Amino acid sequence: MDKLIIKKTQSLQGRVEISSAKNATLPIMAATLLVDGQSSFKKLPQLQDVKTTIALLENLGAKCSGDYNSFKVDTSQINNLVAPYDLVRKMRASILVLGPLLSRFGEATVSLPGGCAIGTRPIDIHLDGLKEMGASIDLEDGYVKASCAKLKGAHIKLKFPSVGATENLVMAATLADGVTRIQNAAREPEIVDLCQFLIQRGAKIKGEGSSVIEIEGVSKLQTVNEHYQIISDRIVALTYIMAALITNSEIIVENTNYKDYEAVIELLRKSGAKFELNQNSVKVLSHQKLSPLHFETTPYPGIPTDAQAQLMALALTIEGESVIKESIFENRFMHVPELVRMGAKIKLEGNKAIIRGGTPLKAAPVMCTDLRASAALVLAGLIAEGETTINRIYHLDRGYENIEGKFQKLGVQINRVKEN
Ligand code: UD1
Repeated sequence: MDKLIIKKTQSLQGRVEISSAKNATLPIMAATLLVDGQSSFKKLPQLQDVKTTIALLENLGAKCSGDYNSFKVDTSQINNLVAPYDLVRKMRASILVLGPLLSRFGEATVSLPGGCAIGTRPIDIHLDGLKEMGASIDLEDGYVKASCAKLKGAHIKLKFPSVGATENLVMAATLADGVTRIQNAAREPEIVDLCQFLIQRGAKIKGEGSSVIEIEGVSKLQTVNEHYQIISDRIVALTYIMAALITNSEIIVENTNYKDYEAVIELLRKSGAKFELNQNSVKVLSHQKLSPLHFETTPYPGIPTDAQAQLMALALTIEGESVIKESIFENRFMHVPELVRMGAKIKLEGNKAIIRGGTPLKAAPVMCTDLRASAALVLAGLIAEGETTINRIYHLDRGYENIEGKFQKLGVQINRVKEN
């Protein structure tokens, strides 16, 4: 298992280019299953989760070719409708093949993803929606077995705006008979991108980005020759923005759209952070003393849960008491005990973390527990006195492309140590 060794860094400088969003890439790659033919992409992010998705699509019979800069998926010869446990356990987002397989082929069997470090993460909202569209669903031997000769449009009201459920249901509805209306839909930019991909191929979708999405089923999606460019990763961008703020440095974050994370920019500005916001980049400027952060994570357009751990790392440098409430996942404070090992003063009260910032951190061996928690440890490593060793970085590799290379370019002394 590889580890990262990171030294305290006085300040960062230069530019960092943000790659395509993992959370848009995974559903869009699942959506290729709706196309009877080829889909092509430019600049897929080089991530472990993308590799797992390619393995999953190939396992279903898709033919994948090219490299990350120009990638093709041909789904005209799908010959297996089972997503096996071995692949699903590596990546929960594998559940996203359920909607498209069921919609195009009338059946699908997908291993139940199970819980993960940040919570139990049920899929009841996905399954209830599919049932409303006429699917029969059985849970057998750890698998979801779904079938329906032809899904039917339905009016579905989600009990929570789940990102994955919204994506699965939009994809299922794309080839269903009639109109599907999803109320209380999730509004994340990655969902808008998925809808754009589908619309370009002939899907009839309205309202993406709002809380009511309407999909009129079509009989077939067309192949489009143009390479699809997936949106930039707002969470990765925010991680580098936080790296600059935590070290009070000026850097330019390129290929990013701040409008995808305006709530965070507003929170940071209120705290005293300064930015130059451009159409395709964000310049983080140096700042005077920041004031403590008080926020709650909520569905888009609120503060994303995926940025909570990184914001907490920033709060460690701010004198006074910051309070963070995690409202999306019940157990998303796995980074706290690791940060405490580095000297952080954080108290947990249920889903609230109370951070007493301003205490200097000391390097320590720490362990990644999940993707975003790991990003917080890298950020803490930037300011901790000494040399921080971050173990189990396979979590980071799921969602951050070439993290050590990008930080090295910004002037950080960070190295990957490969271990068999
Ligand atoms: C997606 C993102 C993840 C992000 C999360 C919330 C991807 C690949 N992953 O995950 O990075 O942290 O959105 O922004 O895009 N829930 C249920 N029943 C369901 C589905 C969800 O109770 O059927 C609950 C979950 O347990 C969780 C909450 O709803 O507490 C949010 O989950 P959801 O929005 O579905 O997240 P994901 O799509 O899994």
